[in-house]
Amino acid sequence: MSESSQKPYRIGVAGLGTVGAGVIKLLQDNQELVARHAGRPIEISGVTASNKDKDRGVDLSAYQWMDSLDDMINSPEVDAVIELIGGSDGMVKDMVEGALKKGKDVVTANKALLAHHGFELSKLAEENKASLAYEAAVAGGIPIIKALREGLSANNINSLYGILNGTCNYILSEMRETGRDFDDVLKEAQEKGYAEADPSFDIDGIDAAHKLALLGALAFGVKPNFDELEINGIRDVESRDIKHADELGYRIKLIGMARRAGENFVQVMEPCLVPINSALGSVEGVFNAVMTQGDFVDKTMMEGRGAGEGPTASSVVADIIDLARGNNLPAFGVASNELKQATWQNADSLSYKAYIRLKVEDHSGVLADITACLKESSVSADSFLQHPRKEDGEATVVILTHEEPLKDIKAAVEKLGNLPCVLDKPMLMRVEEV
Ligand code: HSE
Repeated sequence: MSESSQKPYRIGVAGLGTVGAGVIKLLQDNQELVARHAGRPIEISGVTASNKDKDRGVDLSAYQWMDSLDDMINSPEVDAVIELIGGSDGMVKDMVEGALKKGKDVVTANKALLAHHGFELSKLAEENKASLAYEAAVAGGIPIIKALREGLSANNINSLYGILNGTCNYILSEMRETGRDFDDVLKEAQEKGYAEADPSFDIDGIDAAHKLALLGALAFGVKPNFDELEINGIRDVESRDIKHADELGYRIKLIGMARRAGENFVQVMEPCLVPINSALGSVEGVFNAVMTQGDFVDKTMMEGRGAGEGPTASSVVADIIDLARGNNLPAFGVASNELKQATWQNADSLSYKAYIRLKVEDHSGVLADITACLKESSVSADSFLQHPRKEDGEATVVILTHEEPLKDIKAAVEKLGNLPCVLDKPMLMRVEEV
């Protein structure tokens, strides 16, 4: 039987912003290829958004306009709701729950919703024999959800590292290439449309942490737990940090890390130093990347565009194809009643090399005071950089430590911050030798 004579898989698209319009464009442009892969036609039964009259650069005339989210979830002509609105609570959560309760599949790009409510929603999907798919929620066009849920499913994943926010990676790359300061590059990123007008979700690490919570759950077969994540964004990274890191052979990246620590797990999202020539160190601009280490497969890495119309639509439609084919896997790889409640611990018990940057007075005895603080906390330095005094009599001292327990390094940094000769809050970043 040809695909066209099969019963179509009927979708309702809720939200017609960049991603929604991209999904419709992809389904129009690649209609035949998508139907071949799905084994049956994909039919857009209806669309909805807050503004009916806006020109979205895509022809919607063939589709029924639905006046509300309720109309969409109640429509007998909709097999799957494609949620492309965003937001972790309120009407979007109500709609997703409502659709699942009616046994409709849901495809979403909404990382905030899943990071906060993913476990409950995956349970609801299973109870109602529906599917919840979210490839587009993490790392845009990179098929990392499918890779973890299927391709790597025979492995115990030991660790996972990701560059998961294109805006942050663009800002850090631009700061390095041009020597410009954070605020200046952020303004440009907003003008170019990379960063939101309120960019705090991006630059404070929240967006990337939502994604990391989902990857950690999938990688380790545990309930997603955004609340246990340690999150530090990139606001405090200065262009001089990027320059000093370069001198020491490193790049600064906002790195999401999730790893096993004995029976427990650690998940942290924060700027780190990674070796210049490492796979993650070479990921520049708006690109994302995810590296995993599994017990049988060892390291794998995927890199690609983490946002934008085309890449995100590619992931949304891949999910639609899977569901139309009947590939209905549990949202987090194992049935929700098999998901373990992980014990998350902070990274302080782990050992790392670290970068410490201090703004100091420039006179005799300063280095002695600094080394005394390191000694009191049993932290050994690997290298020191001192940059010459500016006209204002201040100097910058950078210390790269040996691998030491992070709690000792943090104790040393607290002491350093209290020294009278240290003029500013010290900057501390972990080194990830990935
Ligand atoms: N704003 C995100 C980024 C994309 O810059 O990567 C959507 O999560």
